[in-house]
Order: sequence, then C-alpha cells, then structure tokens
Amino acid sequence: MTASHPTPLTDDPDWWRSAVVYQVYVRSFADANGDGVGDLAGIRQHLPYLRDLGVDALWLTPFYTSPMIDGGYDVADYRDVDPSFGTLTDFDAMIGDAHSLGLRIIVDLVPNHTSSAHPWFVAALAAGPGSPERARYLFTEGRGERGELPPNDWESIFGGPAWTRVEDGQWYLHLFDPAQPDLDWRNPEVRAEFEDILRFWLDRGVDGFRIDVAHGMIKAEGLPDVGFSTMTTGRRQVELLGKGRLPYFDQDEVHEIYRAWRPILDSYPGGRMAVAEAWAETPQRLARYIGPNELHQAFNFDFLDATWSAESFRKVIDTALAEAAIVGAPTTWVLSNHDKQRHVTRYGDGPDGLRRARAAALLMLALPGCAYVYQGEELGLPEVLDLPDELRQDPAFRRTGESRDGCRVPIPWGGDLPSYGFGPQGCELSWLPAPATWAALSVAAQTGVPGSTLELYREALRIRRTHPALASEGAGISWLEAEPGVLAFSRTAGGSELTCVVNISGVPAHVAGYGEPVVAIEPLAGTGDGHLLPVDSAAWFERR
Ligand code: GLC
Repeated sequence: MTASHPTPLTDDPDWWRSAVVYQVYVRSFADANGDGVGDLAGIRQHLPYLRDLGVDALWLTPFYTSPMIDGGYDVADYRDVDPSFGTLTDFDAMIGDAHSLGLRIIVDLVPNHTSSAHPWFVAALAAGPGSPERARYLFTEGRGERGELPPNDWESIFGGPAWTRVEDGQWYLHLFDPAQPDLDWRNPEVRAEFEDILRFWLDRGVDGFRIDVAHGMIKAEGLPDVGFSTMTTGRRQVELLGKGRLPYFDQDEVHEIYRAWRPILDSYPGGRMAVAEAWAETPQRLARYIGPNELHQAFNFDFLDATWSAESFRKVIDTALAEAAIVGAPTTWVLSNHDKQRHVTRYGDGPDGLRRARAAALLMLALPGCAYVYQGEELGLPEVLDLPDELRQDPAFRRTGESRDGCRVPIPWGGDLPSYGFGPQGCELSWLPAPATWAALSVAAQTGVPGSTLELYREALRIRRTHPALASEGAGISWLEAEPGVLAFSRTAGGSELTCVVNISGVPAHVAGYGEPVVAIEPLAGTGDGHLLPVDSAAWFERR
C-alpha cells in the first residue's frame, strides 16, 4: 500500500499526552476475507481512512487466539493471532503500514484472566488440587459440610456466582464468564509470564497497551465476603463497582504490578504507553494508577457517565483536570466504547441524540489531554436496540438479560444493502446484522457531505491537530462566564484563543465576543454583534 501523503511518525515520547486514539473493535471494523468477521487485513485496508480522519493511534481490542466466548477477552494464546483475525504476519504488515502512515498501534492486554482453553487452565484441571498448575489460578475449597457452597459471596460481573465447581470438588474464581478463570497474581510465575508477553508485543513494535480490568488482578487476602449480594439485597454486587470498595477490585498491591511494568515500557524507545481500564471508588483512587512510576493514563469513565447537562459535564471536567494535575498526567476523555450503549442513544436517540452526540464530540475534542473515539461514533451510529435475541453473543446476555452487542454491530462502509461494504464486494455476511436504515450513515454516504457527522469529526480533528491552542496539551482551559446551562471555555496559546461553547440550556443562547466560528455542529445565525447557538448545539470560535 502506498500512502498518498505519507506522514512519518514523530519521535515525540509524549505523543500520548494529547493524542486522539481510535478504538477498533476488530470483529466489527472491516472484514477482508468475507467470513463475516472483521480481521487484521481489513484494518490494514482501511488505514488510509483513519489517517484521513485525523487520529493519531488505534487501540485494537483483543485479536489473540481465543474461543471467543467474550469476543476475544478470553485469551488462549497471548502470543498469537486468532485464525479468524489472520496471522502474526498480517499483524506485522498492518503495524508496518500503520507506522508508515503516522498511526500508532495500541493493543489490548488481558491479564486478569485467561480463557479456560488456555494451556495453563487445561493443565490446572488435569493436575488436581494442591498442584503448581492450580496455583496459577484461584482454586479453593467450598463452604458447607461437603464444600458444596461457593467459597464466598462474590458475584460475576456477568451475573451469577463468581465461582464454578470442578469435578474433584474444588472451586475456581471467575469474575467474568466461567470460561474466563482469574489468574493468581500473587504467584511470581504469573507475573513473569506477563512481563514476557509485554516484551513480545513491544518487540513487534506496538506503541502501547490498553490494560483490561486493570484494577482486578489482586484479590484481598483470605477472599472475604462482600456482605452485599443479590441473594441478600436483591441488588447485584456489580452496582458497587466504582462506588464502594470490593475485595476483588482496586486492592493496594495491584500497584506493585504496574510499578514493575513501567520500567519495561520505558526501556523501549519512542514513548510506549499503557492506559488502564480501571474502576475505582473515587477519582483520587483512580489517579493512583497513573504517573511516572505506573501507567500513563486511565480511562475517565465519569465523562462517559455524565448526563446531558452542563452541571454534570462541568463537574466531571473540573475533577478530572484537578486529579490529573496532581499526578502530572494528562486526563483522558471517552464518550463510547465496546461495553457501553452508544452515546447517540444514551443522549436520547433519534435526531436529538445525534445532535447532542455531535455537540459532545466538539466538547471532548476541545479539552486538553487524550481523547478516545470509538469506531462508528464519527458516523453518528446509534445503538442497535432491536437485535434478535438469538443473534446476541455477549456472554452476559444469557446470565443477566443485558447485552453489549448493540454497540458492536459492524461498521457500514458504503452501498445500499447490509452489510454495507463490511466485507469484500458482493459479500453480505456479517456476524451481527446491520439495520436496514444504515445506508445513509455509511462512510461513503457521508464523505464529502458538508454537515455530515464524519465531516464534522474530520474538521474538528484537523483543527485540533493544527490550532496552536489545541495542538498542545499545555494550554489549559479557562471557564468563561455564560448563561446557565451553557458551557464555555477557552484555551490560549501562540497568541490565539479558541473558545468552545456548548448550549445545554434548553433555549437558544446568544454568543458574542469569542471571535469567529471555526467549526459548528450546524450553521450559526449571525445576530449583528455575535451568533445564536441553538439548543443542544456546540461551536468553536477563534480569536487571533
Ligand atoms: C473489560 C472489557 C470487556 C470484557 C471484560 C472482561 O471490561 O472491556 O469487554 O468483557 O473486560 O475481560
């Protein structure tokens, strides 16, 4: 592949501090071989699209050998590519092309649990109680006279008990699906194995890691009860996630692991980074995962969870910036990912949800720090709410009735009929069906169309990359006085000022004194001395 405008990678070791990272859910991005499942060759074909979109890096969800019980978050071989996604040679070709286009590659590391098909777990089952093979996982005896009750009251995030009993009577822990047994990170062999896995991918040239369930690897000594369970309260334990302390999450010793990983990352050139998917009780505890001795970033899920209100966004932004400043790390911003309902739908769905999602994009991309864009949000894709139950594949669905499949529907690239160019020409297969209404949302349908969501993202990303006030992480934000319900902040650098205004007030807002609009989610009417910003709208203004 030859790039029309090759952009060499910069050697800036701090590239991640203000990057825009595009999340590729590999199964659903692009299918090069026509089997209905996205693959690495499909990503490779569409790298020029991502370069032109204007992102800096891709985060690829797990593409390793896996039985795919949890879409690849159940890894059977951490050093190989699942045949449905391609081969290591495809990976090398993809990363080589990405780098030559100026795009960095972040891969997903799943250290909390393996697949039950991983050779370690297979060996653990065969070896029996008390063996070194079992000691890599959390096997223990049950409660009750004959050990017939689970060892404690822990619940799986996917519903039901977090313990499964094996034939010889022992139980093993799985915070997720029974096909995802938790590793025992107090075992040095486990630590050594993952340090080696990090090096394996760093040697292959990856620019960073997204650490899955980064808060989960250490469990409290003695495996104590939570004392709050569906059995006793009728409410699921997972409701405490991010709100209270759980004996299986955010234990202090987990930080030792990251303190050991950081020197490994730092020993490679070019700024190799890691971002934690971590849930903690408070923003202060979350901030402990980041800093010069641990990981580089943690996802700021409070931003994703903020409701569509100025107060909610303002509070989350202020807290995140303050916490990040204390640890000297940039904050991150994220609106959607493969686990959450797409934000178009969360913000009200239909035209209202889309307007708000577009406005939220301008808000996010104007903030200092690193922004994560989930594939398809640049097209304004909504959640697919009406997938037939029998097609849903999320393992949580059978256990809780809740499913994350609706945000994982394959990307529409072009054409009038499903699967809209997801596969090679003439191929209609896709592992989840795209709605009949998505032709107008495809990349081809939006490319070059003024006002389309795709062109809005492209324009905002172009300005973010080139405008002195946004291009560097350095320019902090200053909140400006505005009517209630209107968010307005500016960033200043190099003699020019960029102001972002989002109107969540419920009435049109008169905006004056910030200069000329440079990008807006819709054309703005002039008022003589300023502009009128409609309801649920956003714009950036510039003063030089
Ligand atoms: C993370 C992933 C999610 C997965 C879970 C278990 O939360 O984002 O998709 O199901 O970990 O690995």
